[in-house]
Amino acid sequence: MGQIVIAEFMEEAAVESLRAAHHTLYQPRLFEDPPALHAALAGARALIVRNQTRVDAALLAAAPDLKVLGRLGVGLYNIDLPACQARRIDVIPASGANADSVAEYVILAIGTLLRGAFGATAEVAAGGWPRDRLIGGREMAGKTIGIVGFGDIGRRVARLAEAFRMRILGHDPLIAATHTDWTETRTEMVGLEELLARADAVTLHVPLGPETRGLLSAPQLALMKPDAVLVNAARGGVVDEAALAAALRAGRLGGAALDVFETEPVPAGSPLAGVPNLLLTPHVAGATVESNARVSSLIAARVLVALAMC
Ligand SMILES: NC(=O)c1ccc[n+]([C@@H]2O[C@H](COP(=O)([O-])OP(=O)(O)OC[C@H]3O[C@@H](n4cnc5c(N)ncnc54)[C@H](O)[C@@H]3O)[C@@H](O)[C@H]2O)c1
Repeated sequence: MGQIVIAEFMEEAAVESLRAAHHTLYQPRLFEDPPALHAALAGARALIVRNQTRVDAALLAAAPDLKVLGRLGVGLYNIDLPACQARRIDVIPASGANADSVAEYVILAIGTLLRGAFGATAEVAAGGWPRDRLIGGREMAGKTIGIVGFGDIGRRVARLAEAFRMRILGHDPLIAATHTDWTETRTEMVGLEELLARADAVTLHVPLGPETRGLLSAPQLALMKPDAVLVNAARGGVVDEAALAAALRAGRLGGAALDVFETEPVPAGSPLAGVPNLLLTPHVAGATVESNARVSSLIAARVLVALAMC
């Protein structure tokens, strides 16, 4: 029992700052045992989770005094938001704390895919010399990046791309053409079809919703240049995985990097298995030493403020 219950991993320094102010229960694997979690929430005023804890009706019923819900991350898909709103629970995401990590991941993935030089370690160490195969890599300078979704992360990607002397296209129907976000980042605002047709590298930074599910399916992938590369570090479901796999296998796309998937972990029999020129990472684009520390300290500070106000 604690006034604050932390049900998933949180940086120790941030936990200490909470302990200094309130009785705090910290069990990083508590999310794995819902009955124990529910029992621990009996007198709790604040709960802190990552993305493993299901904050559903049963959990909320077990936490009658809950006023504050801190999320060590951004997506709120594991949280029943309408139920929290009905209970007037203050839901606090760690907005922006991992945006630089995601933006750097995207630029590194695009550079790796365009250059194509880094997959021969074992071969070179064993005396192989695959120069002929690997001298065809491409520079980022002068290439065009297309950024779909020009929010916090999309704009940070634009600033990094500018440093690599890339041309920048952006598509975001919710940001007015007159907004300074475009001019400050030297980004040309275009429609999605034009972006897909012109970009050498396309990167997605939209939320997942009815409007964006399948945003890049077979017809959209067909608009891309055959040597262009695609990065999805937004949400699984924005890209149609079967259509992407088919495009890569047929050589209709130069390469892709996916950090997020329709189902995580990727299930057996996924069309992505064995596909060429495809980099896969297990939803880690936003997770670095620095972002973890920022996420934890931000949530600790904001939960303390919220508790002081309720
Ligand atoms: N892989 C990771 O580890 C990781 C980490 C953090 C965030 N994310 C994901 O990155 C994505 C972007 O995060 P953010 O913080 O930049 O969000 P944000 O809210 O700041 O920006 C999202 C942008 O998408 C735009 N948008 C909405 N619908 C669109 C559409 N149909 N076409 C084009 N643009 C559209 C919005 O106008 C907004 O500007 C989210 O899906 C988030 O869940 C992933």
